[in-house]
Amino acid sequence: MVKNLGFCSLWYWFLIIIVVHIFLPKAHSQESPSYLGFVSNATEFPSEDYYDYIIVGGGTAGCPLATTLSEKYRVLVLERGGVPYGMRNLMTQDGFLTALTDVDANDSPAQAFISEEGVPNARGRVLGGSSAINAGFYSRADQEFYAKSGIDWDLNLVNQSYEWVESAIVFRPELKNWQSVVRDGLLEAGVDPYNGFSLDHEVGTKVGGSTFDSNGRRYSAADLLSYANPANIIVAVHATVERVLLASSTAYYGSKQAAIGVVFRDRLGQYHHAMVRGRGEIFLCAGALGSPHLLLLSGIGPRPYLSSWGIPAVHHLPYVGQFMYDNPRNSITIVPPIPLDHSLIQVVGITSSGAYLEAASNIIHPAFVTDPSFPMHLTVATLMEKIIGPLSFGSLRLASTDVSMNPIVRFNYFSSPADLQKCVNGTRMIAEVLRTRSMEDFRFPQLFGGGAFRYVGPALPADMSDDSLLGNFCRRTVSTIWHYHGGCLVGKVVDPKLRVIGIESLRVVDGSVFTLSPGTNPQASLLMLGRHLGLQILRERL
Ligand SMILES: Cc1cc2nc3c(=O)[nH]c(=O)nc-3n(C[C@H](O)[C@H](O)[C@H](O)COP(=O)(O)OP(=O)(O)OC[C@H]3O[C@@H](n4cnc5c(N)ncnc54)[C@H](O)[C@@H]3O)c2cc1C
Ligand SMILES: *[C@@H]1O[C@H](CO)[C@@H](O)[C@H](O)[C@H]1NC(C)=O
Ligand SMILES: *[C@@H]1O[C@H](CO)[C@@H](O)[C@H](O)[C@H]1NC(C)=O
Ligand SMILES: *[C@@H]1O[C@H](CO)[C@@H](O)[C@H](O)[C@H]1NC(C)=O
Repeated sequence: MVKNLGFCSLWYWFLIIIVVHIFLPKAHSQESPSYLGFVSNATEFPSEDYYDYIIVGGGTAGCPLATTLSEKYRVLVLERGGVPYGMRNLMTQDGFLTALTDVDANDSPAQAFISEEGVPNARGRVLGGSSAINAGFYSRADQEFYAKSGIDWDLNLVNQSYEWVESAIVFRPELKNWQSVVRDGLLEAGVDPYNGFSLDHEVGTKVGGSTFDSNGRRYSAADLLSYANPANIIVAVHATVERVLLASSTAYYGSKQAAIGVVFRDRLGQYHHAMVRGRGEIFLCAGALGSPHLLLLSGIGPRPYLSSWGIPAVHHLPYVGQFMYDNPRNSITIVPPIPLDHSLIQVVGITSSGAYLEAASNIIHPAFVTDPSFPMHLTVATLMEKIIGPLSFGSLRLASTDVSMNPIVRFNYFSSPADLQKCVNGTRMIAEVLRTRSMEDFRFPQLFGGGAFRYVGPALPADMSDDSLLGNFCRRTVSTIWHYHGGCLVGKVVDPKLRVIGIESLRVVDGSVFTLSPGTNPQASLLMLGRHLGLQILRERL
């Protein structure tokens, strides 16, 4: 009898366990990501070890590349930042501004830098890279990009790679109120047709994808690591690569230099060597600032310049750090008479006159507001333009031989008159959107005899017909949309397969190889790029 009872209660618990398993599947989305199983601190690494592939920078292009290569080969990822999982502001859509402005700590995930023209900017310093600190808008490259970028694309693999990324980390957003107002305004202003929700690049107005899910939880390149082969991949965080080790291997490569490993430092300041074996390679995926920076520190760059820093020049490559581009962003911000939802970019207007229009609405922390008449919880609405394919460019220089110090960067915004004309065109388009019926509700009836916008920061010039006034507005209000690129251009520093010209076993795979920023916003193409190159390499080695 007693035995039977015991048997029954066993079944009873068994049933409960089954019920729990059936009805709590949602709990899985809150679980820690499986990539954490192969991430460890650099301090735990041996002083020397061997790998097939070493990826420097666990960022937007680096993570999908590492995941793909791990299918067949032993891969090491070295990331100077920590793990994004568990950082609340970083992992949520409404934490975007807080995470971006929290740059106090030496190891904050958003590393601030200011370009020489005085424009504040940021770079990711965390697993996932800038995809872990960005605004999450996701849109594929324009068709022209493939031809103009000079990269050896396989267009079938391109689509396959986008689809792989999208099935893992891209969502269809729920439109917030300011975004739908802007969508309607763009259409009224003639940025048509309406293409609905689309990941493709088409002239007109559309809703793009997002790397935030419907709960506002962020997904990033780091989440692509969860698809890696756990037996073949190791990710070191707080691992700062200081330089690439080069050796001349006359026996095999003739007189060429070859990359044979990297030196990285852990949090305690200890040095480690990671070396490649066999037909292995090293990939610099450290971003548009990080990769040219590392090439220079490794002795690959303009010889006289390296000598002036006392860096032994191993290979003279004059264009390392040259051709740095940043698409200027100009915007207006208004205080709406009605409260707005918080929103990052969800809608884009793709014009054929040189600019993309995007929008955001933010709940501003009182600390950022200087006007005492503003209410405590102020929402502001922003309408911005990004110019397409700037011709203006600048360069990157060392500030120090310490890799943790930002290099000095300048972009020479609007040094090309064509760029200024695109901005003038985009500014007129902003004015046209503001004039539409969709914007009526955002005017203050009692202001200036009725119907004026209440601006925070600069307003549009009163006379929109005067190109020179508009040009002044563009120069005076220039900021960044963080799509800076260049420094290791295809054809100048790397070949179409992204191999560093003149060096064996070394490639650069990130935004530094682009002359043009792909599509309206670049992250889709950078995520695709990592997967695409990984698949090409797997195929070639078969
Ligand atoms: C604030 C912000 C908002 C943005 N919003 C959007 C958006 O909404 N949509 C969009 O498409 N794009 C957006 N972008 C742009 C986009 O995120 C970037 O262009 C893209 O992520 C860059 O990818 P990457 O692979 O070139 O470099 P990153 O993703 O920056 O990767 C570089 C990685 O290398 C690491 N690293 C650097 N140096 C070293 C070293 N010496 N040792 C070890 N590791 C190193 C870095 O820590 C980083 O993780 C935004 C960018 C920012 C900064
Ligand atoms: C790495 O070390 C830091 C403390 O230095 C710790 O907070 C963190 O959890 C560690 N991360 C991993 C992945 O071991
Ligand atoms: C890739 O997908 C796009 C749509 O996103 C399509 O227009 C294009 O034809 C496709 N290319 C190939 C080679 O399949
Ligand atoms: C600016 O707009 C005008 C009128 O739409 C157009 O003719 C011109 O090509 C545009 N300029 C640029 C640089 O795109």
